Formats: sequence, C-alpha cells, structure tokens
Amino acid sequence: MLAELYFKRRPGCWKMLAVAVCMVLLAGLQAQDLQGHVSVILLGATGDLAKKYLWQGLFQLYLDEVGKGYSFSFHGAALTSTKQGQEFVAKVLESLSCPEDVAPERCAELRGRFQQRSQYRRLRTSEDYMALSKDIEAQLQHEGLREAGRIFYFSVPPFAYADIARSINSSCRPGPGAWLRVVLEKPFGHDRLSAQQLATELRSFFQEEEMYRVDHYLGKQAVAQILPFRDQNRKALDGLWNRHHVERVEIIMKETVDAEGRTGFYEEYGVIRDVLQNHLTEILTLVAMELPYNVSSSEAVLRHKLQAFQALRGLHKDSAVLGQYQAYSGQVRREQQKPDSFHSLTPTFAGILVHMDNLRWEGVPFILMSGKALDERVGYVRILFRNQAYCAQTETRWVADQSQCLPRQIVFYIGHGELGSPAVLVSRNLFRPFLPSGSWKEVEDRPGLRLFGRPLSDFYAYSPVREQDAYSVLISHIFHGRKDSFITTENLLASWAFWTPLLDSLAHEAPRLYPGGAENGHLLDFEFTGTQLRFSQQQPEQLVPGPGSAPSPSDFQVLQSKYRDSPLISAWPEELIAKLADDIEATAMRAVRRFGEFHLALSGGSSPVPLFQQLATRHYGFPWAHTHLWLGDERCVPLRDPESNFQGLQAHLLQHIRVPYYNVHPMPVHLHQRLCAEEDQGAQMYASEISALVTNSSFDLVLLGMGTDGHTASLFPQSPAGLEGPQPVVLTRSPSKPHQRMSLSLPLINRARKVAILVMGRMKREITLLVSRVGHEPKKWPISGVLPSSGQLVWYMDYEAFLG
Ligand code: BG6
Repeated sequence: MLAELYFKRRPGCWKMLAVAVCMVLLAGLQAQDLQGHVSVILLGATGDLAKKYLWQGLFQLYLDEVGKGYSFSFHGAALTSTKQGQEFVAKVLESLSCPEDVAPERCAELRGRFQQRSQYRRLRTSEDYMALSKDIEAQLQHEGLREAGRIFYFSVPPFAYADIARSINSSCRPGPGAWLRVVLEKPFGHDRLSAQQLATELRSFFQEEEMYRVDHYLGKQAVAQILPFRDQNRKALDGLWNRHHVERVEIIMKETVDAEGRTGFYEEYGVIRDVLQNHLTEILTLVAMELPYNVSSSEAVLRHKLQAFQALRGLHKDSAVLGQYQAYSGQVRREQQKPDSFHSLTPTFAGILVHMDNLRWEGVPFILMSGKALDERVGYVRILFRNQAYCAQTETRWVADQSQCLPRQIVFYIGHGELGSPAVLVSRNLFRPFLPSGSWKEVEDRPGLRLFGRPLSDFYAYSPVREQDAYSVLISHIFHGRKDSFITTENLLASWAFWTPLLDSLAHEAPRLYPGGAENGHLLDFEFTGTQLRFSQQQPEQLVPGPGSAPSPSDFQVLQSKYRDSPLISAWPEELIAKLADDIEATAMRAVRRFGEFHLALSGGSSPVPLFQQLATRHYGFPWAHTHLWLGDERCVPLRDPESNFQGLQAHLLQHIRVPYYNVHPMPVHLHQRLCAEEDQGAQMYASEISALVTNSSFDLVLLGMGTDGHTASLFPQSPAGLEGPQPVVLTRSPSKPHQRMSLSLPLINRARKVAILVMGRMKREITLLVSRVGHEPKKWPISGVLPSSGQLVWYMDYEAFLG
C-alpha cells in the first residue's frame, strides 16, 4: 500500500525499479550459466597425496561451486598408462565422501555427476599437453561454454616441475580473459640458493599471480583462524598481544610416526627443512605479524607477513637442539643400501628458539618444536601470558574466570592429541572470545580432560562446526584466488634466508639419539637462557651416535701388532674409536694424578669426529676440569667458519663438555681482522702460549691423522715449513683449499709424551701400505717424521685402512 503510494508520486521510480529487477534477474541467470567453465588438471593423479586428499578436495570444490553457475571438468593425469590410470582413478572416485549433512542417495547422485565430469589421461610429452588443450577447447565449443580458467595441480616431485611448466606455458594456457593457476607442492628447494634457482626457473614460465605454492598447514582450520581471531577480538587483544604481556609462544608439531619408507627424502631434508622452515614458520608469522587493518586483503596480509620475516633475529647453533630416533640410521642403511658403518647426522627432532627484533616482540621467546617418533601426535600454537598477579586467597577458592593467578593462555589447537579435533581455546580469566557462530561452536565440557595443565572447563573452547581437511580448504582458496593462504616467492625466499645459515652451521652436528615413543622420557626436554637452548638432561653415554652403544672392554676384538716398529691397534671403526677414547681417558687420568693437568693436542678433519663424539659422552670419568685442549693444526679461516678445525671440535666435543674456557686454546689464525698474516705473528704467539703453559712444551698427548698424500697435522710433502728447525709452530700451505694453514711443527710434535695416529677408511689403504715400507723421509711423507724423542707412538687403524 505504502509502496503503491510512493511510486504513484514518483513515476520515474517504477522504471528504475524495473531496470534493477531486470539486472538482478540477469545477474541470477548469469550466475546460473555464465560464470564460466573451469578445467582442473591434477598432475600426479595416481599418487598418494591425490588418493588421500586431492580428489576428495576437488569433489568438495565441485559440491560447493557447481550450484553457483560454474561448470567443471576434472582431468586426472600422470605417467601411468591410460588403462591403469583409469582403473585407479575410478576406484578413488568411488570412495569419495560427502559432508555429514548430505543424505546417502543425494551423495551417490552428486558423486555420479562428479565422476561424469572426471577422466584420466596420460600426460607425458609436450604433444600430450597440446592435445589436452585442444580437447578442452573442443569441449568448450561443443558445450557452448565460456572458459573461466584452468587449474594445474602439480602433485609431482619437484624434478618434474620444469618440464611440465614448460609444456603448460607453451601449449596449455587458457584463451584470453581466462585465468591460469598452477599449484605447487613442497619441497620448494633445499636451501636459499636452490629455492632461488627453482623460483627463477618457474618465473620464466609463470607470472607470480599464477603460482599457488601450498603449505597445507595454512589450510588447517585452527591455523587459518589465527588472523580472523586476532581481527575479530582486536579490542581484547590490542593491549595483550605484545612483549609486556606474552611470556612465550610455543609452536609445536609432534608426530608418533617415523621416517621409515621415506628415508630417501628424509635423509636429504631432515626435520628443519621438512617442517620448521615451512609449516611452523608460517604459523610463527601469523602470530607475530602486525595485524593489517583489512585482514581479508591478501595483498596486505602478505606484505605484513614479509615484514614479520624481516624482524626475525638470525639463528645460531645455540638456538637449536637436535635429536634423532635411534632406529633411524638403521632404517637409512636398509632403505638406502648404506654400509654397516654408516651413521646419519640427519635430525628427526628439533627444538629452536626464535626471537623477533621489533617493539612488539622484543625479548619474547618463540619456541618451535617438531619431531618424529615422539610420544604423541599433536599440533598447537600456545600463547602463554605473563602472570603478574598474587592471589591472597587459598588456591581452592580460585575461580576459573576470575582468578588472575591461574595460567592465562590462548591456544590454536591444530588437531589430534587429547582433544582429538581442531579448536581455539582461551583461558576464562582472559576474556570471552568472539568466533563466528556459523563456523565455530562451543566444545562441550569433557570432565577429566586436562589440557596444558588445566581442566578443559577453564577455557572458552570452540571447535569447527564442520571439520574440514586442509587440502579441501586450500583447493577452495585456490579457486577463489585467495593468495594469502599460499607462499609467495618473496615469502619463500625470506624463510630460506632465515633458516639457511642455521642449517649450514648444524650440518655436522651430531643429534642426540632418542629411543622413540614414551620411552623418550625427559631426554628431549630442553630449556633456554637468553638466546641459548640446550637439552635439560645431560646426554647419557649409550645414546651417542657414531660408535653406537658404548662397548665394554670384553667386547673388543682388537688386533694388537706393530706398524713401522710402533704398536698398532686395529679394529672395526666403532671398537677402534672406543678403544682410543679409553686410552685417551686413561692417559688423562694418569697425567692429572701426576701433574695436576692434562695437555691434549687434537687434529681436525673427519676421522676424529666420531672420537670427539665418543669423548663428549664422558662427562663423569674424564678429568675435563683439568684438561687443556690445543689444536694440532688449523685452517686459516675464522673460527666460526664450518671449515675451521676448531669449529669441528666445538661442534662435536667442546659444547658438550665442561672444560674451563681458559683451558681451551684455539690457534690464533684470525688476528687484526685478517687471516694468518706473517706480520701478525700468530704462530709465534701460539708457541709462546704453549711454552708458558705446557711443561717443556711437551704435550701429554698429540692426536694426529694421516692424509692420503702422507701429510700429518698441516705438514705437507714437498713443503719444508715445520719439518725441522727451531720454530714450534709454523704457517704452511696445503695443496687443497683452504690453502693457508697453521701447524705444530714436527720437532714440537716429537717432544710429546705420547702421539696417537688415527687412520680410518678404505681411502687410506694405499698410503698405509706405502708408509709401512718407507723409512724416515719427512720431506716426501711428513708422517714418517713422527717419532717422539722420548715418548710413545701408537697407531690406531681401522680394518679398512689397514687390511683394505
Ligand atoms: C608434511 C611433512 O609436510 O607434513 C611430513 O613432510 C609430516 O613429514 C606432515 O608428517 C604432517 O602433516 P599432518 O597434516 O599429518 O600434520
């Protein structure tokens, strides 16, 4: 009635209304028919990921979008033959499921339609890609459809990327006006350089906006909720989300599975590359980034994320603790056909301490942790707030939503664990959070269930109304072009720039062995002070890699004989190292008993690494407090350089034992900001230090190795420096890089009370044979000049070096 009156008075409005109604109807019609056709090409359609998640995700996409005016075709593709591929895909499609609220008959009908739109084809050659494109065009024409876009999902190993990308770029791009989206799965490189190379290669085929790099953790519902939660609870969080209130942030992904069956991949990557560099780092940035004004702007989110990367403080070795489950090396030996002596250094567990250098987070520890073969499967991000209150009442009177003395925390619970589903938890004494009721519902209390030290009833707890698998979420985001759920090239490279230096510095680090599962006990607990992280428990002896479990003396099958008229001890590598470590310990005990101190000079290289690892376990018996550690030789590089002998000693021994720091004597190769310059007199300085501290400059024990050219310490054939003469310490030149060296001279070595020469591995067989026959010819074979004037010389050779 009112409307009638209104339009009578304003006749022009009738016209406007009619036009508006027509437009709405037209838009409706367009929505029905004209949104266009989308072709999805799933590459690797017969692989595990496709079988487990991707086909289901595509089916979900179809269910969500087909009613909104899109039409679809799905092309499963792989190298598998057409017949086999078709059979495989048919089987997978049969098993697709619908959301719980869809009745079974309706589900069967929808699945049938999806099956009709899906087919398998073999894609191998560039001609195959051309044919695919032609078929898509023919179908569009035949059905009178407008093309909206094409999605190519690369569920294939990265080595296959370049060829596929080339074929798509040259012959499978959609026509004008339609979009192309290519979806890529990790690994996206192995370090900064390889990631950069891969990115450059991909950029030669695709535009940045065409690429969707998947990190499936960004599709996990609790992770995807971090930014919306921060946005929707701005009022409560504004004052809290900073260093004044947050005590620490824990970003955790624990797994019970191990790496069996995929050690080929795992050996190359390890836990940091596999999980921390991507999943946990992405979560870190979501928590730490400045919240954009508009969180639904992909561009703003990505920009703020990148800024968060820039605020990350660089990591160093002490920022990490590493572990490896005990069965791992055996699995690698079996699966990769490695010899029995092989021991992997790949970590399967890592705890990392991260700091951000910005005003918001300065001083707040972010703890990232992940591992295989742990006691439970669970993932979460926990923001623990400081407790600044004292409660005068007795604890039994504390009330969950009022007492400021109870822990205050916000947890994005990614899944599994005690709760068994994704959730967002907020301590009741913080605030009542807002979560969109259409997608999140309150969790019913489960009496007896405790999470993070508190009963579930202490939290406002929400879980998704409809649990969705991460890939389904991401496939929908790809379809809607939501780039903020994916890894941009800049983001990827920023992450690798952050992790690569740490990975490099840890490359030779021996991880702590752990038994796996509940038996891990407290072995992997770690703690931090300042910027350093370390295991809470000292390493028990039997859990050190390298020599395996510590053998008892009766286990030895050690051959004792003579080599170059000196005692020779020969055994399998593990036994040999254990025997040498025992002998060193016995020598140390004797020296300390007699003189109050023990002076040990050690060489670098790879042979002594297992020895260092073995010595590192001897916390109690070895008189470390009275031991002085000297270097037999050094490379002219900074001490932190991975090439430095001191660095090897630091990594495998020093950091695990308690030697007073004034007892550690690195060679002064780096003086006045230059390396081994004659004028800096580093060699003379070292000689003076030795003569000041070591009685008669006579070391209690010098450990040497023997090079394949007969060199020892850094005394090389055909180079006279250090073979004779009065200089105790000399600068020398090595034929291999780094060329410049500093070394104890032969005369100084020969003053030692005892010299042990350790020779390991088949590569040493020839020189061992040769040196057994030569006389005293240090100019040709410096090792032949090692002959302590009044001390003892003992050779330690493993069977491979000695018997070949
Ligand atoms: C993958 C890693 O990215 O994530 C695996 O390569 C790991 O090693 C997996 O097991 C864990 O994912 P989810 O979804 O099972 O937690």
